[in-house]
Amino acid sequence: MSSRHAARPGPAVLVIFGAGGDLTWRKLIPALYSLHAAGRLTPAFAVFGVDKKEMSTEEWCQHLREGVDQFSARGKADPAAWDRFAGGLQYMAADFASTDALRVLAGRIDEQEKTWGKPANHIFYLAIPPGLIETIVCQLGEAGLAIDHHATRVVVEKPFGHDLASAGELNTTLATVFEEDQIFRIDHYLGKETVQNILVFRFANALFEPIWDRSYIDHVQITVAETVGVEHRAGYYEHAGALRDMIQNHLLQILCLVAMEPPVSLAADEIHNKKVDVLHAVRPIPEDCVFDFAVRGQYGAGFIGGDRVPSYRSEPGVAPDSAIETFAALKLYVDNWRWQDVPFYLRTGKRLPTRASEVAIQFRPVPHQAFPDAAVVDWQANRVVIRVQPEESIQIRFQVQQPGLEVRLSPADLQFCYREAFSAVPPDAYETLLLDVLAGDRTLFMRADQVQAAWSLIAPVLDAWDAVPPAGFPNYPAGTWGPEAATALIARDGRNWYSPPLAST
Ligand code: BG6
Repeated sequence: MSSRHAARPGPAVLVIFGAGGDLTWRKLIPALYSLHAAGRLTPAFAVFGVDKKEMSTEEWCQHLREGVDQFSARGKADPAAWDRFAGGLQYMAADFASTDALRVLAGRIDEQEKTWGKPANHIFYLAIPPGLIETIVCQLGEAGLAIDHHATRVVVEKPFGHDLASAGELNTTLATVFEEDQIFRIDHYLGKETVQNILVFRFANALFEPIWDRSYIDHVQITVAETVGVEHRAGYYEHAGALRDMIQNHLLQILCLVAMEPPVSLAADEIHNKKVDVLHAVRPIPEDCVFDFAVRGQYGAGFIGGDRVPSYRSEPGVAPDSAIETFAALKLYVDNWRWQDVPFYLRTGKRLPTRASEVAIQFRPVPHQAFPDAAVVDWQANRVVIRVQPEESIQIRFQVQQPGLEVRLSPADLQFCYREAFSAVPPDAYETLLLDVLAGDRTLFMRADQVQAAWSLIAPVLDAWDAVPPAGFPNYPAGTWGPEAATALIARDGRNWYSPPLAST
């Protein structure tokens, strides 16, 4: 999608704030180690971990290696490769709010560059709770660490704000120290190979784009289903909920890729402009009938894969009367020439029956049915399903004549499965995104206006849900496809949800 694979990125010091946290342990270091082991990083590459906890570099490395052993796509760390990689890791215990500490950090970066004998890019990765971002950004400015525009980048994790106002404030804070082209706002879904493939599927094939509009498409469904519950993240999730956690970012990004106009090139701004156009075209959800367009749910106790699991309200750290939604479904319209009156149904939830992220493009029926009634009892309109995970694939449903003497149509599927077609395992999203940060390619990151447009789109729903406490939570048992109201949301339009296969969890 981007130019990242063309060349190995130049010398770089990556500073991770929040070096002792879960993200660093599960995602960032395993991804960096994989890139290192695959020869994608330059030898002049160092990672400086910063966190409050006192620990030595050796202890930090030991902890990180356990993370790699558990979470790396390549399996356990190879001892020799790990030692080479760990040689570039340094830990620094520091108070994020201290300018002095950041001056010490600046000194260490200087020393590192002297050792290499060349200047490096400086990347500041904020793997920290949102409340600390402003402090660190200001301290980076104070300590003179953001002066070199061309060599300095900052990476900001989600959640990017809590609502439209706070996202705007965060953008303003970042803009006091950094230029927009230095800011990399992460949405890890954009790093997933199959999400990027939506653009390839649409714009590198002549077959689909001519029929990719309201004349041929009846509606679109985007489902991101998870079997996991809130896990150990109640502290965060109790202030977020499914709409903020998943729809504001991941699902709306997917919607943009499905609905955007063809880009002229893959330049970052060109892609961002086309995506923002989609968000701006989404019909605002009317404040007085939010509940006709949005459904929320919360899981009760139930069964996942045969195992009994507790209700959300019984999870550790969750309030016994929590009103936070673990399921959200939306109906949206994109008001432009291509999509006028084509509904986009979005849904996501925790503790659903299977783990699956997919986009289903449901085509309209043929305009004239020439076949006798008896021949078309099993008839179904065409459908394209783009499966993002766990089994990356594209499926096209069409009609065939059933073997036999009578005319009898039957739906059949053409399936392209990545795993079968290519022996290579797709890179983890964080590998892709970290390599892009190192290369300075912002195509797969979110621009300030995009984030704000996404917040303003869901603002009426957040407001309405805040104003009216949910009645009847929990309203779906774990292991089911969400509350009945979600079925009703789409059934009112004479349609139903296409449910991903249950096979993999
Ligand atoms: C994160 C959300 O952004 O995405 C989590 O905060 C969610 O709640 C996760 O579980 C899902 O990501 P993936 O890559 O497992 O689909």
